[in-house]
Amino acid sequence: MGLNRFSLPVAAAIMMINASLLVQGCLEEERTALLQIKTSMFDPNYMASPLLSWGNDAHCCSWAGVSCDNITGRVNEIDLFDVRGWFIDPSMGDWYLNATLFLPFQELNTLYLGFNYMAGCVANEGFERLSRLNKLESLYLGFNNLNNSILSSLKGLSSLKHLSLYGNQLKGSIDTKDFDSLSKLEELTLSGNEIQNFVTSTGFERPGSLDKLEILYLSSNRINDSSLSFLKGLSSLKHLYLDNNQLKGSMEMKGFERPGSLDKLEILDLSSNRISDSNLSFLKGLSSLKQLYLDNNQLKGPMDMKEFDSVSKLVEFCDLNRQFRIPISLGPFFNLSNLEILIGDNNEVYESTELEHNLIPRFQLQTLSLACNGFGGTFPRFLYYQRDLQHVDLSYIKMTGEFSSWLLQNNTKLQELYLVSNSLSGSFHLPNHSHVNLSCLDISRNEIDSQIPTEIGSCFPRLWFLNLSRNHFGGSIPSSISNMSALDVLDLSNNGLSGNIPEQLVEGSLSLSVLVLSNNHLKGQLLWRSFNLADLTDLILSGNRLTGILPDSLSNGSRLEALDVSLNNLNGKIPRWIGYMSSLKYLDLSENNLSGSLPSNFCSSGTMADVYLSKNKLDRITD
Ligand SMILES: *[C@@H]1O[C@H](CO)[C@@H](O)[C@H](O)[C@H]1NC(C)=O
Ligand SMILES: *[C@@H]1O[C@H](CO)[C@@H](O)[C@H](O)[C@H]1NC(C)=O
Ligand SMILES: *[C@@H]1O[C@H](CO)[C@@H](O)[C@H](O)[C@H]1NC(C)=O
Ligand SMILES: *[C@@H]1O[C@H](CO)[C@@H](O)[C@H](O)[C@H]1NC(C)=O
Ligand SMILES: *[C@@H]1O[C@H](CO)[C@@H](O)[C@H](O)[C@H]1NC(C)=O
Ligand SMILES: *[C@@H]1O[C@H](CO)[C@@H](O)[C@H](O)[C@H]1NC(C)=O
Ligand SMILES: *[C@@H]1O[C@H](CO)[C@@H](O)[C@H](O)[C@H]1NC(C)=O
Ligand SMILES: *[C@@H]1O[C@H](CO)[C@@H](O)[C@H](O)[C@H]1NC(C)=O
Ligand SMILES: *[C@@H]1O[C@H](CO)[C@@H](O)[C@H](O)[C@H]1NC(C)=O
Ligand SMILES: *[C@@H]1O[C@H](CO)[C@@H](O)[C@H](O)[C@H]1NC(C)=O
Ligand SMILES: *[C@@H]1O[C@H](CO)[C@@H](O)[C@H](O)[C@H]1NC(C)=O
Ligand SMILES: *[C@@H]1O[C@H](CO)[C@@H](O)[C@H](O)[C@H]1NC(C)=O
Repeated sequence: MGLNRFSLPVAAAIMMINASLLVQGCLEEERTALLQIKTSMFDPNYMASPLLSWGNDAHCCSWAGVSCDNITGRVNEIDLFDVRGWFIDPSMGDWYLNATLFLPFQELNTLYLGFNYMAGCVANEGFERLSRLNKLESLYLGFNNLNNSILSSLKGLSSLKHLSLYGNQLKGSIDTKDFDSLSKLEELTLSGNEIQNFVTSTGFERPGSLDKLEILYLSSNRINDSSLSFLKGLSSLKHLYLDNNQLKGSMEMKGFERPGSLDKLEILDLSSNRISDSNLSFLKGLSSLKQLYLDNNQLKGPMDMKEFDSVSKLVEFCDLNRQFRIPISLGPFFNLSNLEILIGDNNEVYESTELEHNLIPRFQLQTLSLACNGFGGTFPRFLYYQRDLQHVDLSYIKMTGEFSSWLLQNNTKLQELYLVSNSLSGSFHLPNHSHVNLSCLDISRNEIDSQIPTEIGSCFPRLWFLNLSRNHFGGSIPSSISNMSALDVLDLSNNGLSGNIPEQLVEGSLSLSVLVLSNNHLKGQLLWRSFNLADLTDLILSGNRLTGILPDSLSNGSRLEALDVSLNNLNGKIPRWIGYMSSLKYLDLSENNLSGSLPSNFCSSGTMADVYLSKNKLDRITD
C-alpha cells in the first residue's frame, strides 16, 4: 500500500526525464541509427522510397514507417516493407542486411523487412546480434531471397512471437532444432517456399520447443510426408495450413496419434494435395476441430465418416473435390451439432436411401453449397429442419419433386438461394412475411408452372439478382417487381409469360443493368416515355409479340452494350440514334417488320461488332 502511494510520482518523474532526453522528439541514438539504416538501404534510383523523407524532420517518430511508444518515446516499430523498389524492378540483385544497425532500438517490438530482395546478412552482423532486443515480438522477412541458413541466425531471438518467412528460398529438409530457442513463438509462417520435410531427429517433441505455437502456415511447399510426424509435440497448435503441398495417398497422420497431441487443433487445411483415401480416420482425436478443408484432392468413393463423432465441434467442412460422393441426405454429418458451413461443390451427389428415415440432423446450417453433378432424388428431408440458412446453392443436382415453399418460409435469414437446373415442379409460393435480406434468387431451369406471385416485390424488397428463366411461369409480369429498389439483374426469359411489359420496370426508379424477357408471349407497344435504365447494359426482348416502333427514350441508354429485339413485330424505321449509341456492341433487329433505309451514320458507329438485320423490309441503300 505504502509503496503504491509513491509509485505514481516516481513514474511521472521518470517520464519527465525521458521527456527531457526527447527534446528533438526522439532519442538521438535512435535517430542516428535510423539514418544509418537509410544509408544502408536507400536506392537513389527509387524515388518513391518511403526512406526518401527520413531526416527531413527532427522528430523521427513521425518518419514514414517509424512508430514510437507513446509513453517512453522510443521506437517500437520499424516498417521497411519494399523500401528498395522491388515492385518497380524485381530483377534487382541480392541485398545483405547489417542486423547490428537495429541494436540501438531497445524497445523494438515489430520489424518489417519484407520485399527487399534480402539474401542474408552481412558477415558477422546477423540476427543473432539482436538477441538483447528482448521486446522484439514480430519479425516479417517475407518475400526475400533467404535460404535455410537464415534459420540458425534467428536462434537468439527468444522473445519472438510472430515470425514470417513467406516466399523465400527455404528448401528441402529443415532442421527443427533451429527453432528450439524460439520458445515463445505463437505464429510461424513458412508458406511459399520449397520445404520438403522437417528433420525430426531432435524433434519438436522436446519440451520447451515451439510448445506455444498456435498457428503454423506451411502452405505452398513441397511437403510429401503424409505421416506428418514432425507435428508431434506441437501441443498448442490451433491452426495448421498444409494446403498446396505434395501429400499423397492415405493420410497416416502419425503426428496426430499421440494422445492429446493435436487436441487443440481448430483449423486443418489439407486442400490442394493428392490425398486419395476417403477413410477419414485420421480425424480421430481432433476433438476441437472446427474447420476442415479437403478440397482439391483425389478422394474417392462415399465418405466414411465414422470418426466425425470425435470432431463434434466441426463448424465448417469444405471439400470442393471432384470425386467425393456425398449423399444428398447429408446423413454422415447428422451428428455434427456445430456444423454451420458445408461447402462441397463439384462433387457427385447421390440419392441415399439407406438412411434411417426418422433421424433429425443435429446441425443448423448457415451455408450449404453442393452445386454438383449427380442425381439428388427428391428434395432432401434434412432441409425441413433448418431455420438459420443464409446461403444455399443446390444447383445442377437434378432434384425432383415440388418446389418447397417452406424453405423460404422457415429460413427468414436467407440471403442467397440457388436451385438452378433441377427438376423442381409445382407452384412458386411466397412466404407470408417479407425476406428483407434475400439478395439473390435463382431458380432457373426447373419445371415450375405457376404464375409469378403478384406481391413478389414487397416480399423480396432487397433482391439484387432474380433469375426465373427456363421454367413454365405463366400469367403476366407483376408490376411490383419495380418496387425491388436494388434490383440489378432480372431474367424472366423462356417462360410462358404474357401481357405487356410493365412500364414501371423501365420508367420507374429501378436501375437495372440486365433485363432479359426473351422467349415469352409478351405483347404491346414499347411506349416508354422516359428511360430510367441509365445503368442498363443488356436489353434482351427477342422472341415475343412486341409491336410498334423502337422508343426514342432508348437513346438515353448510354451504357447499352447488347440490344436484342429480334423475332417480334416491330415496325417503323431504324432510328438514327442507334448510330450514336456509344457502347453498343451487339444489335439484333432481325425478323421484325422494320422498313426504310439504314440511317447514314449507322455504318460509322465504331463499337458495333455484331449486327443482325435480316428478315425485315429494309431498303438496300442508306439515306
Ligand atoms: C498509447 O498507445 C496505446 C497502444 O498503442 C494506446 O492504446 C493508447 O491509447 C495510447 N495513449 C495515448 C495517450 O495516446
Ligand atoms: C554494421 O553496422 C554496425 C553498426 O553501425 C557497424 O559497426 C558495422 O561496421 C557494420 N558492419 C558492416 C560489415 O558494415
Ligand atoms: C545461403 O545464403 C547464404 C547467405 O547469402 C550464402 O552464404 C550461402 O551460400 C547460401 N547457401 C546456399 C545453399 O545457397
Ligand atoms: C518426398 O520427396 C523426396 C524428393 O523428391 C523423395 O526422395 C522422397 O522419397 C519423397 N517421400 C515420400 C514419402 O514420398
Ligand atoms: C480406416 O483406416 C483405419 C486406420 O488406418 C483402419 O483401422 C480402418 O479399418 C479403415 N476403415 C476402412 C473402412 O477402411
Ligand atoms: C450419431 O450418433 C448416434 C448416437 O449418438 C449413433 O447411433 C449414430 O450412428 C451416429 N450417426 C452417425 C452418422 O455417425
Ligand atoms: C418448416 O416448415 C414446415 C412446413 O411449414 C414445418 O412443418 C416445419 O416445422 C418447419 N421447420 C422449422 C425448422 O421451422
Ligand atoms: C438482415 O441482415 C441484417 C444485417 O446483417 C441483420 O442485422 C438482420 O438481423 C437480418 N434480418 C433477418 C431477418 O435475418
Ligand atoms: C405465417 O404462417 C405461419 C404458419 O404457416 C404462421 O404461424 C404465422 O403466424 C404466419 N405469419 C404471418 C405474419 O402471417
Ligand atoms: C439465368 O439462368 C439461365 C439458366 O440457368 C442462364 O442461362 C442465364 O444466363 C441466367 N441469366 C442471367 C442474366 O444470368
Ligand atoms: C410499391 O411500393 C409502394 C410503397 O410501399 C406501394 O404503395 C405500391 O403499391 C407498390 N407498388 C407495387 C406495384 O406493388
Ligand atoms: C434522357 O435523359 C435526360 C437526362 O437524364 C432527361 O432529361 C431526358 O428526358 C431523357 N430523355 C428521354 C427520352 O428519356
